[in-house]
Amino acid sequence: MSENLVSATQRQLGATVEVGPIAFGCWRFTGASDADNARLVAGALDLGINLVDNADVYGLDWGGAGFGACEEALGRVFRLDPSLRDRIALATKGGIIPGVPYNSSAKYLIEACEHSLRRMSVEHVELYQVHRPDVFTHPDEVATAFSSLHDRGLVLMFGVSNYTPAQTRALLARAHVPLVSTQPEFSCAELTAMRDGTLDLCIETGITPLAWSPLAGGRVISGEGLNAALIAVLDEIAEREKVSRAAVAVAFVLAHPADVVAIVGTQDLQHLAEITMATSVHLTRADAYRIVEASDGVKLP
Ligand SMILES: NC(=O)c1ccc[n+]([C@@H]2O[C@H](COP(=O)([O-])OP(=O)(O)OC[C@H]3O[C@@H](n4cnc5c(N)ncnc54)[C@H](OP(=O)(O)O)[C@@H]3O)[C@@H](O)[C@H]2O)c1
Repeated sequence: MSENLVSATQRQLGATVEVGPIAFGCWRFTGASDADNARLVAGALDLGINLVDNADVYGLDWGGAGFGACEEALGRVFRLDPSLRDRIALATKGGIIPGVPYNSSAKYLIEACEHSLRRMSVEHVELYQVHRPDVFTHPDEVATAFSSLHDRGLVLMFGVSNYTPAQTRALLARAHVPLVSTQPEFSCAELTAMRDGTLDLCIETGITPLAWSPLAGGRVISGEGLNAALIAVLDEIAEREKVSRAAVAVAFVLAHPADVVAIVGTQDLQHLAEITMATSVHLTRADAYRIVEASDGVKLP
């Protein structure tokens, strides 16, 4: 049997929490009813997904009712079926304020997190992430917010998102409580994280990469703006592996040695089931490099 780069193992989030290689994202969590939303979350958990990624800004688009709406929707799901909360490693984010645009001051982050917990009807979250870097806040101040939230039992662990490797390293050096994850965009159509040091820093420090938009927000399916050669390679592998194109694209994300978690955004249980087949896909090194070259549209030297 030829080598297989795809890692389907559980990922470690900090010292105590294990999460699956595929996570459920709530950016588009704007389903028609609370019962539909509860079915979706329960269906995701039944497929072996246990990390759920939300943010206070989710709800501003995708038909949401505004800032906080996707956290509120998840809160209603937890009230409908309280058993779901205990099966989830719950993550959310704060630090984006439409109009400013970013605020990571200690006062703001602490209040934002308190509001998030209230909206989701939970006592604590496993992971609280700074959504985007506020370059006008010193990392010591972010670290102060983290310590306060951690010491009050509101947050178990912390993460960053859309941080450069240098920004993450600076915060890692100043944080007194566990900083365990970084959330970059990463997919076969967006390879920057494996070239700018983001995924290398994860390997170096042991923090867990949570890849957002692993299907490039659906463009891997529509083909919009992607090289036709990339779609052709994904489809050829999909036929060989007897899975969907989406599953091959997610398998590519799981093939990086940083042991990436792919946060998928589909709100369709059938699509979710197809995607979880990614863990059974066999990708050789030759497959992975064919995908990279097709994505770049040029041969590697
Ligand atoms: N940190 C950040 O700045 C940031 C930014 C963006 C996203 N995120 C996180 O990443 C998560 C995922 O982002 P994303 O929604 O852009 O992810 P994605 O998985 O790349 O794209 C999901 C989109 O693809 C569509 N799609 C079409 N055909 C599909 C198929 N066959 N299988 C699966 N999906 C298909 C989905 O529609 P259907 O629902 O119809 O399947 C959905 O609209 C978000 O929910 C959020 O948690 C974080």
